[in-house]
Amino acid sequence: MAVTKVALVASMMACMMITCSYGESSLSCDQVTIWLTPCIPYGVFGGNVTSLCCQGVYSLNAAYKNGDDRRGACQCIKDRAALIPGMNYDHVNEVPGRCGTKCPFKVYPSTNCSAVQ
Ligand SMILES: *[C@@H]1O[C@H](CO)[C@@H](O)[C@H](O)[C@H]1NC(C)=O
Ligand SMILES: *[C@@H]1O[C@H](CO)[C@@H](O)[C@H](O)[C@H]1NC(C)=O
Repeated sequence: MAVTKVALVASMMACMMITCSYGESSLSCDQVTIWLTPCIPYGVFGGNVTSLCCQGVYSLNAAYKNGDDRRGACQCIKDRAALIPGMNYDHVNEVPGRCGTKCPFKVYPSTNCSAVQ
């Protein structure tokens, strides 16, 4: 049921936004999560990315200061994505391109975020 799925995704988003914190890097997982939460519907359902989602992607790209930030963001996105039922990793990795930008890493369940430069 589509409605149930939307409700589930919405509650996931709400809980992601309050429960997460990560590591030592200057870029917190809370912040990454807030920026990328508008991209979750695309990650699950596909369709069109929203401008809010793209703004989040741009903000994240602009916030990377060093490899720790990129590794932390990678781990954060990977951990959060794993919690979302129906997350489609092909969609997830399409988001930056859809927004006309790039992400310094690809996110899959098998991604080794420690190897991100
Ligand atoms: C995506 O956006 C385009 C252009 O606004 C629109 O024509 C198309 O129907 C949208 N696709 C979906 C799946 O919402
Ligand atoms: C992940 O990458 C790091 C750094 O390259 C490496 O030391 C580590 O062994 C890798 N872990 C796995 C599970 O491949």
